[in-house]
Amino acid sequence: MRLSIALANLKPGTGKTTTAVLLAYALHRRGHQVALADCDPAGSALAWSDAVGGFPFALYGLAVKDAGRRLAGIGGPGTIVVCDLPQAEDHGAIVRSVLRRVDEISIPVAPTTIEIERTSGMADLLAEVGEVRERPARVAVVLNRVVGGARSGGDARQALSELGYDVLGPQIPRREVYALAYGAAPSIRGGDPFDLLAETYLTRAGVA
Ligand SMILES: Nc1ncnc2c1ncn2[C@@H]1O[C@H](COP(=O)(O)OP(=O)(O)O)[C@@H](O)[C@H]1O
Ligand SMILES: [Mg+2]
Repeated sequence: MRLSIALANLKPGTGKTTTAVLLAYALHRRGHQVALADCDPAGSALAWSDAVGGFPFALYGLAVKDAGRRLAGIGGPGTIVVCDLPQAEDHGAIVRSVLRRVDEISIPVAPTTIEIERTSGMADLLAEVGEVRERPARVAVVLNRVVGGARSGGDARQALSELGYDVLGPQIPRREVYALAYGAAPSIRGGDPFDLLAETYLTRAGVA
């Protein structure tokens, strides 16, 4: 495995699955060998794949308590593994097991006060997981559902930075095409938000 990225949050409905699947598509489009691990017992990514007749990259159902340990067995040395996690508040064991081992932990957060405040629970979980990790993860917030032309995105970026989060440069706008993404094959082009997000992870990992 070359790189592993997990999308995590305490709460459901923050964009973990949408981001994981579209990011996997974007990395695949760039020519990388990708594996998506659906670690959520709800199986939304697995169902999404069924709905499109199969994703064009490998997909694993890994909603088990030792999901993190099993990630090591996925793919070859060049594979980039993207993990779609369930909400940590209900599935702590699965989430801890994955967060303990992945290279990148990304938290999708909408630019609203309530979602920003709720990141404190994630910070506690990350601190706990950090104590049992071999080396620190790269942890970042991905701003999701950012309204174009509004102040909320910039304000949220600043508030999250002040809370000590690394906020990734590319942000995901709130768009109908993402709201309707589930169950369809996305069309991602170079320079799209998910392509820029993919590029950011590759750069952070030192992958050309
Ligand atoms: N950037 C976005 N713009 C519009 N709708 C979004 C966006 N990101 C997620 N959504 C919608 O929000 C809902 C929750 O997203 P989902 O990825 O399923 O969250 P989670 O996996 O964290 O529960 C879905 O209906 C999804 O289509
Ligand atoms: Mg989900």
